[in-house]
Formats: sequence, structure tokens, C-alpha cells
Amino acid sequence: MGLVTLKGADEKDVNGYLDFMTRLSNDEENYTLSRYSEVDRGRIVEWSKTWGKQTLMVLAYSEGKVVGLIQLNKGRYFGMEMQSHVGEVAYAVDKPFRGKGLIYLLFYYLLKDTDVRILTAWVDERNIRSQRVLEKLGFYELGKADEFLYSVKEKMFVNMLFYYGRKEVVERKCREIGAEYELFKDVTA
Ligand SMILES: CC(C)(COP(=O)(O)OP(=O)(O)OC[C@H]1O[C@@H](n2cnc3c(N)ncnc32)[C@H](O)[C@@H]1OP(=O)(O)O)[C@@H](O)C(=O)NCCC(=O)NCCS
Repeated sequence: MGLVTLKGADEKDVNGYLDFMTRLSNDEENYTLSRYSEVDRGRIVEWSKTWGKQTLMVLAYSEGKVVGLIQLNKGRYFGMEMQSHVGEVAYAVDKPFRGKGLIYLLFYYLLKDTDVRILTAWVDERNIRSQRVLEKLGFYELGKADEFLYSVKEKMFVNMLFYYGRKEVVERKCREIGAEYELFKDVTA
């Protein structure tokens, strides 16, 4: 496995994104939306036209394949006029790249050019690994919403945790972890 490069994605990256999502949907440790319902290619192609605007999408590429992503949606709850300073994050890294720090690089890269002040994230109660990442980055768990999501594929209701973080804290934690120095290194080495 070679070097990983990160880039702010636009609609031209949608096929790489879709390949990654399809791979993830067969991964039992995956708790992105593709765990709960089938990947809807048409809807994602439409949505990709907003990348670089209301949605920031950062993709990690290795050997031409997407192997990681972090996305930030601004104004998710009360619209852009009142909440352009609030961004909701969602993220994933491919199995061979887990435990290697790529997720902290993705956070660091996303935040360095972003003007949001507050970050939020919803995490499946079963996804301990993702909860650990958020806690390491200085997010607080604000609470748990029981049966907040229906998993169509698993045919069950899922309990979700809601996390809140401050951008400057998350950036500081990324620096402490060393993400900024790792940015151009081979994370798989
Ligand atoms: C969530 C995700 C991005 C985290 O990245 P990662 O590279 O796996 O993160 P780390 O390896 O740093 O793991 C975070 C922590 O969880 C711990 N951990 C690893 N595997 C674990 C497991 N099975 N159970 C509990 N904790 C675990 C790690 O030890 C680490 O803690 P530490 O730093 O104190 O040692 C990645 O696992 C992933 O892409 N998962 C699938 C997609 C997904 O679910 N995304 C999140 C949707 S909210």
C-alpha cells in the first residue's frame, strides 16, 4: 500500500466515493448510513453537486482508490442563516487503514480551512471505536436518543449518541496526536 493523499472533493470524485461506500456496506464494523439502508447511487450523484459548498467532503486516496472520508454539513439543524458556524461530521476509513491515524489526519485536514466553531456528530451506541475517536478529540457526549434510527437492513431500532465539540479544541487535540506532521507521510508504514 502506498502513500495517502487527501483532497477536498467535488462531484468528479463521486465514483470513487460510491466504490468506497459499496465496500463499506459489506463491513460489519461500518456504522455509516450504508449500514442501515442500501446505497442509493442516483441520490448520491445528485448530492455530490453540493460538495465544496454546503457539504465539505474530504477524501483520502491511495493507489487511485478512496480509502477514507470525512464530511461536514453546515446549517444542518436550523439552516445556514442561523447555523453556518455549526457543522455536522461523518467519517470512515477503509479497514486496512484503521488504527493508523488516518482518521485524525482527515479531521485535521477538514478543519484547517473551515470557519465553523462547533462540531456535532451522531454515533451508533454500538460503535465504541468511533466514540473513542470523538472523545480523544475533545468532543462531549451530550446524551443518548433511544431508538432514534430505524436500520432497514438490520430490521431494528438503533440507539444513537449525540456529540458536541469546539473546533479549536479538536484542532489542538489533532496537533497533540501529531496529525499535522503526519499529513504527507505514508500512514500505512
Ligand atoms: C470510526 C473509525 C473512523 C475510527 O478510526 P480508527 O482508525 O479505527 O480509530 P482508532 O484505531 O484510533 O481507534 C480509536 C480507539 O478505539 C479503540 N478501539 C479499536 N478497536 C476497538 C474495538 N473493537 N472496540 C473498542 N475500542 C476499539 C482504539 O484502541 C482507539 O483507542 P486508543 O487510541 O485509546 O487506543 C473507523 O473505525 C471506521 O472507519 N469505522 C467504520 C466506519 C464508521 O463506523 N464510521 C463512523 C460513523 S459515526
